[in-house]
Amino acid sequence: PLAGTGAIVTPAARAARGVGAFNVIQLEHAQAIVAGAEAAEAPVVLQLSENAVRYHGALAPIAAAVLATARTAAVPVAVHLDHATSAELVAEAVRLGFSSVMFDASALPYEENVRTTAEVVAHCHAAGVWVEAELGEVGGKDGVHAPGARTDPAEAAAFAAATGVDALAVAVGSSHAMLTRDAVLDFDLIADLRAAVPVPLVLHGSSGVADEHLTRAVERGMTKVNIATQLNRVFTGAVRRTLDDAPALVDTRRYLGPGRTAVATEVTRLLHVLKARPA
Ligand code: G3H
Ligand code: ZN
Repeated sequence: PLAGTGAIVTPAARAARGVGAFNVIQLEHAQAIVAGAEAAEAPVVLQLSENAVRYHGALAPIAAAVLATARTAAVPVAVHLDHATSAELVAEAVRLGFSSVMFDASALPYEENVRTTAEVVAHCHAAGVWVEAELGEVGGKDGVHAPGARTDPAEAAAFAAATGVDALAVAVGSSHAMLTRDAVLDFDLIADLRAAVPVPLVLHGSSGVADEHLTRAVERGMTKVNIATQLNRVFTGAVRRTLDDAPALVDTRRYLGPGRTAVATEVTRLLHVLKARPA
């Protein structure tokens, strides 16, 4: 069923379990992520980024498909708007029935990040929608990797108090859209952030993090773990192999199907890495 994001993330944070938050581009991603979560018997977050919405040209059609996929799932599934910089897009997601949103003002100066995020939090909380924000910009979204970015624990605690956010994305060494899984995370900083910040922490750019480091990040205090690029690598790899093996193939189902199956298997594997299954 469709679930609240807090209902999934809050108990996971208390138990030091991870929550897999996987990005959806096509419908096949949503189907694969849900199938993978069902096989792992773990709750999951389906997220649509503002960039993916731009690709589709509108939020409503793909959101309807993702929400419907969540409602019929055998495990709790939250639907989340990822990396929104537009307050209008956030408002539309709230109207459409999303479980949560990430409002990303991390590129703005601290005071402006606080002010704009607090406004979004007020609007979302009035509708019962959970909000994630970001402090200390995790790089890579524009192709420019900045693995040196770090979030200061004291500033993070002040930011959480000033904005009322439900979860905080922090910079601890990862970077978006990495094609190699060799990011170096600052595990001491994760532990310091966990101790300083009362709300659950979110790791972005998790595709660049090796399996054992993902597990350690969760053990040290990361809860929501955002993964996009790794699923696209797996999806595209399966599609490419299928097309290479069958040059005469034209039915899109014959190559998207193997991509979807491969993503489901990878999601199940990653949810075990994240210790995402409730006891
Ligand atoms: O918000 C989404 C993520 O942070 C995903 O990053 O594509 O590097 O896994 P990734
Ligand atoms: Zn991200």
